[in-house]
Amino acid sequence: MKLDDWRNLPSTAMTPVYEAERLRWAHSLQWDLAPTLRTLERARADGTLPGLVVRGPGQSVVGWSYFLVQHGVLQVGALHARTADGVRLLLDAIFKTPEASLAHEALLFVYPDSPACESALQRRRFAVTRYWYMRRMIDRSCVAATDPRLQPMRDLDGPDVVRLLSRAYAGVPAARCFAPHGRIDEWAQYLSQLTHGTALGRLVAEASLVAPGDQPGRLHGAAVVTDLSASTLHLAQLAVDPGARRGGLGARMLDAMLAFGLTRQRSVATLLVSEDNLPARALYDARGFVPTGYFLHAERPLGRRVLTPTVPSVSRVSA
Ligand SMILES: CC(C)(COP(=O)(O)OP(=O)(O)OC[C@H]1O[C@@H](n2cnc3c(N)ncnc32)[C@H](O)[C@@H]1OP(=O)(O)O)[C@@H](O)C(=O)NCCC(=O)NCCS
Repeated sequence: MKLDDWRNLPSTAMTPVYEAERLRWAHSLQWDLAPTLRTLERARADGTLPGLVVRGPGQSVVGWSYFLVQHGVLQVGALHARTADGVRLLLDAIFKTPEASLAHEALLFVYPDSPACESALQRRRFAVTRYWYMRRMIDRSCVAATDPRLQPMRDLDGPDVVRLLSRAYAGVPAARCFAPHGRIDEWAQYLSQLTHGTALGRLVAEASLVAPGDQPGRLHGAAVVTDLSASTLHLAQLAVDPGARRGGLGARMLDAMLAFGLTRQRSVATLLVSEDNLPARALYDARGFVPTGYFLHAERPLGRRVLTPTVPSVSRVSA
């Protein structure tokens, strides 16, 4: 197996790779990845997004990954290889890139294409958490009475939503996927990606809601809803202030999303939830969502030991 910088490849070499990925997401997740792949290809072709490919027989691309470093954090957005050896090869090569030398920790959020990915990450001493991809059909049972306390989210709600996310996720391990250190600037960047980016679908402003609280600027809840395809509505974020929990607000915002989907001819609702987020999982179970796949979130500090192959001391002694 041979590695190449993906920026050296012509677009035609990447076309079949993207097409396979687009079909995989469409079939398994009902997620139209085409807008994200177009953004990736633009950044790859203009040289701003580092990445690597693994070459197989006949120079075909049999593995690929891309990554970037922001604020000292190496973020890996895809990690594809057919075998655990291929995944480890990619990881070790990423760690050796000039970009990675600027990072002090590594974070991944990927949709793995084989169990090899999770085991390879564990072998490289990443802490790995599964995020269940959950789905339910939108059917006639999704009719819900309109809750007049819920209002459409507007641009000017942004700062209040950021503060709500920071309060709602304080002490929740799953938050590391969104705001790795829980800083308010990380939450602001995360919300901006949700509302203006395509990585988690396109924002559906009419279905994204806020629940005003008793004091100005202090929301009780918020739901961010996106489109993953013409038929799939995605709950990209749901948060309730700790002081407003267990009063049914989370469930009402979820019901409002399902009711919106019913009136707009969407057939499927999806969301992602961390395996250790038991309150949220209880809510989604109660509303009929079932897991249909998983993403992996993985993190580890970066140090020189990452690159050092381990030689079992026993074999040295016995040699
Ligand atoms: C998950 C969250 C949105 C739930 O909001 P909420 O308003 O407290 O939820 P609700 O009161 O509507 O609860 C509805 C149902 O969910 C389940 N549920 C909610 N919180 C629960 C908890 N802490 N433990 C067990 N079940 C829980 C119950 O089945 C509950 O019904 P019940 O109260 O009749 O038993 C809230 O806990 C939160 O904001 N958590 C932090 C952010 C987060 O994890 N968001 C989800 C990301 S995927």
